[in-house]
Amino acid sequence: MSLIDRDRAVLWHPYTQMLTAPAPLPIARAEGVWLYTEDGRKILDGISSWWVNIHGHSHPKLNAALAAQAGELEHVVFAGCTHRPAVELAERLIEILPKGLARVFYSDNGSTAVEVALKLAVQYWRNLGRPNRQTFITLHNAYHGDTVGAMSASEESIFTQAFSTMMFPVERVRGLEDMEQRLRDAGDSIAAVLIEPMLQGAGGMIVWPPEFVAGVRRLCDKYKTLLIADEVLTGFGRTGKMFACEHARITPDIICLSKGLTAGYLPLGVTATTSIVYEAFLSDDRAKTFFHGHSYTANPLACAVGIASLDLFHDEAVLTNVSRLEQQLRDGFEPLRSLGDVRVIGGVAAVELTSNKPGYLDGIGPRLAAEFLDRGLLLRPLGNVVYFMPPYCITESEAAWALEQIAAVLISSL
Ligand SMILES: Cc1ncc(COP(=O)(O)O)c(C=O)c1O
Repeated sequence: MSLIDRDRAVLWHPYTQMLTAPAPLPIARAEGVWLYTEDGRKILDGISSWWVNIHGHSHPKLNAALAAQAGELEHVVFAGCTHRPAVELAERLIEILPKGLARVFYSDNGSTAVEVALKLAVQYWRNLGRPNRQTFITLHNAYHGDTVGAMSASEESIFTQAFSTMMFPVERVRGLEDMEQRLRDAGDSIAAVLIEPMLQGAGGMIVWPPEFVAGVRRLCDKYKTLLIADEVLTGFGRTGKMFACEHARITPDIICLSKGLTAGYLPLGVTATTSIVYEAFLSDDRAKTFFHGHSYTANPLACAVGIASLDLFHDEAVLTNVSRLEQQLRDGFEPLRSLGDVRVIGGVAAVELTSNKPGYLDGIGPRLAAEFLDRGLLLRPLGNVVYFMPPYCITESEAAWALEQIAAVLISSL
């Protein structure tokens, strides 16, 4: 039996209609931006494996860090124990995070990083004797993950409609004016404002100006509520700065990180807070403890790769590569303006194709994905939004080749 047949007999894939989906790609190995299939194909990973990969697949320095850590300590409970990789990664993160973020809480993926942030915000107010502050303000088109809290904070969509009875209500807004009105009206009931700074990803690769992010910070200060920045996608250089909040020169009260945190190697989440948030949990009263944890919290293998990844940012001048890539993406997507709205930020380029059925269910997405794949390029359009988000290590000629394929498919098939 082939790998695909065996897969079909026992597996259930994410975000996949198992009855109608094309056969999964049987990936045997990967290196740099390239995936190699069992049947001998070579495919460029144009979505950084769901946005996690930053330095390329199977990087020798990351491989070495992982192997070395596995030889020392693979994992240990993180309640009551600590270890060098967890401490060192936290120290390194605090050095580079927006100034003021001073405490690191680990979990194990992007959704849990967001869950932790939501729970921290609610308990922060409760610990301060303000238990009425429980509601979140979020943005339309938001995507924060697939666990129940993260889903509640996300836009209502095909992704979440089956679970509407499980979710808690949030206040969804479209812009600063709308946000200010809700903050004014809702008075004392808002626990936090949650945003994806600069770039909303799964909601359609929507780019926001830095002034918006700065405006949200100002409103949170004015109405004395917390600002949570979900940088699960945008963190670690994806928008051209190490963290997207830097575009607006702001510090959120809570930041959520995952994906690029381990360069795409292992699942790990970070929720980092200011000392002010942290100190609200310090008490002789044990009920003020943050009762949250996961079996794999602060997994040493993941932390070790995270540290090695931060080293690479120095050693390989990674942010310079992202800014070179950004220019190349701008030039490459320019001719696509006749097909729809083009948006580029850092290492992400998107074109929202003009469509009479816009949104995730626009059938054009899977059709185009199949055409890209025939040419050796892995892309997963979000409905009518075609985007390219390769690992930062992509060379100029590899990016030029991918951009040619994108233009050829879009211009010939539209
Ligand atoms: C902004 C944002 N937040 C949270 C998540 C959820 O992360 P995970 O898939 O690791 O649970 C994602 C994933 O795409 C994301 O883009």
